[in-house]
Amino acid sequence: MKLEGKSIVVTGASSGMGKVIVEQYVKEGANVIAVARRAERLAELVSSLEGEAGSVIAFAGDVSKQEDCEAMIDLAVEKFGKLDVLVNNAGVMDDMATVANYTNEKYDYVMNINVAGPLYAMRKAVNVFLEQGNGGNIITTSSVGGSHQAAGVVYGASKAAVNAIVRHTAFVYRNEKIRCNAIAPGGINTEISATMGMPNIDGFTRIKGVQALMPGVGEGSDIANLAVFLASDDSAFITGQIIAVDGGWTSF
Ligand SMILES: NC(=O)c1ccc[n+]([C@@H]2O[C@H](COP(=O)([O-])OP(=O)(O)OC[C@H]3O[C@@H](n4cnc5c(N)ncnc54)[C@H](OP(=O)(O)O)[C@@H]3O)[C@@H](O)[C@H]2O)c1
Repeated sequence: MKLEGKSIVVTGASSGMGKVIVEQYVKEGANVIAVARRAERLAELVSSLEGEAGSVIAFAGDVSKQEDCEAMIDLAVEKFGKLDVLVNNAGVMDDMATVANYTNEKYDYVMNINVAGPLYAMRKAVNVFLEQGNGGNIITTSSVGGSHQAAGVVYGASKAAVNAIVRHTAFVYRNEKIRCNAIAPGGINTEISATMGMPNIDGFTRIKGVQALMPGVGEGSDIANLAVFLASDDSAFITGQIIAVDGGWTSF
């Protein structure tokens, strides 16, 4: 088992790639706090993993709230005695709007979940890691949209911010062995389109050419396989990286 005894917090665990990440982590022997807003989905996940090598505790929380981000880390330390890995995976799409027509409401919604959430969680986690004194590990789900044009301007800005936060954190805490990497998925078969709302037709039309280059859609397991490697000691010398998992979509 690759993650035996590791204490891990995973956000966005109620669907999509976060749910598969939790499943693989628990099967690899980790003890996981699974975080999302939909408590009933988390309860199903917990019962589906009974009898596996590791364990999982559900935490119904909203990552756009500082108190929830801090409480999920506290819960890991309380229940498992330490924190080894934080996986910032929760995220939402924008509506594909351009800079000419995005709304302030959508900006606040996307940035609070995709950027403020990971920052709240990382501030708390890094302080716990420093107190523990034996390194740490943070994995954040970015997107190819952080470096290429895959959605609207606000979503791209949110994931570019994530990439900057990841690299900054990896650099400034490299001597304390706090690792920080991002996974940048391409198109993955999840429920994320439900968070988009009504697409902005102008933005959608302008971005269509890039969408046409997409080589196909991956599965949550394509992301979870990398998330297991990054959480494990096999990747001990890897930090500050934004790793695309996109079937070659952004290889041009
Ligand atoms: N699917 C893709 O093609 C793709 C491509 C690039 C990047 N990504 C990124 O991948 C990550 C996971 O998305 P997904 O594709 O797996 O989508 P998904 O199936 O919609 O899953 C998103 C997860 O995030 C959770 N979430 C959303 N807002 C939250 C909040 N405020 N507080 C706590 N949890 C919240 C959702 O749970 P609740 O609704 O229950 O809270 C859900 O568990 C996101 O960061 C997304 O930007 C996805």
